[in-house]
Amino acid sequence: MRRPLVAGNWKMHGSTAENAVLIEQLINGIDGRREGAEVVVCPPFVYLPEVVRRLKGTPVRVGAQNVSAEPGGAFTGEASAAMLKDVGCEYVIVGHSERRAHYREDDAVIARKFRAVLGQGLVPILCVGETLDEREAGSTEAVVGRQLEAVLSLAGVASFARAVVAYEPVWAIGTGKNASPDQAQAVHRFIRDRIATGDGKIAGDLRIVYGGSVKAGNAAELFAQPDVDGGLVGGASLKGDEFLEICAAAG
Ligand code: PGA
Repeated sequence: MRRPLVAGNWKMHGSTAENAVLIEQLINGIDGRREGAEVVVCPPFVYLPEVVRRLKGTPVRVGAQNVSAEPGGAFTGEASAAMLKDVGCEYVIVGHSERRAHYREDDAVIARKFRAVLGQGLVPILCVGETLDEREAGSTEAVVGRQLEAVLSLAGVASFARAVVAYEPVWAIGTGKNASPDQAQAVHRFIRDRIATGDGKIAGDLRIVYGGSVKAGNAAELFAQPDVDGGLVGGASLKGDEFLEICAAAG
């Protein structure tokens, strides 16, 4: 059985004071049952040590939103996977569409980031997804397939035994317009089938979460799909009550 996972992507939001309030709400409201969903929060880099400290001893895990593909050196403004591990991160979002679109991250660098994260024993949350133009052109599977292929060819199918995949249609992110449960299920099935061509057991165990305008009001129907194993939540993860409701909907 795959344990559902709900990860909050705070993006470039928060402050020391705001984070303290949000974390307090999460700690007080979280259902720590082992059979419940695994819950992760991904604050901006600068707040990681503080958030790790506040969540110590609670069931809530901490992830980063990005990582360098390089192990270290003269890369101004970057943080390595080893540094993220050093400060207590366990997860790292890799290849988010905002990184792909605004920072020109291509499939090749994303594959290298994925490998760097695994190299430190952290769990990559690999984001894949098509734009609206690509969906309307009927190329959703070609795009998602290409994004997966880049990682598979560099890191191998075995690496997916320690990874999470997030299907995030770009047109659904931050728009208030989520993929329908059927649309999400179809792409999640496609992803699982693609991994299964390499290894059926790894595909069966792989957690594939959905992201793109997940809210308290639509989480349950999305998570009820057989291949949707939780969510990657942006806007709604900044509201403690709503994020807790989404976590409860996952398991
Ligand atoms: P959203 O963002 O929930 O605000 O649509 C999701 C994401 O970008 O991970």
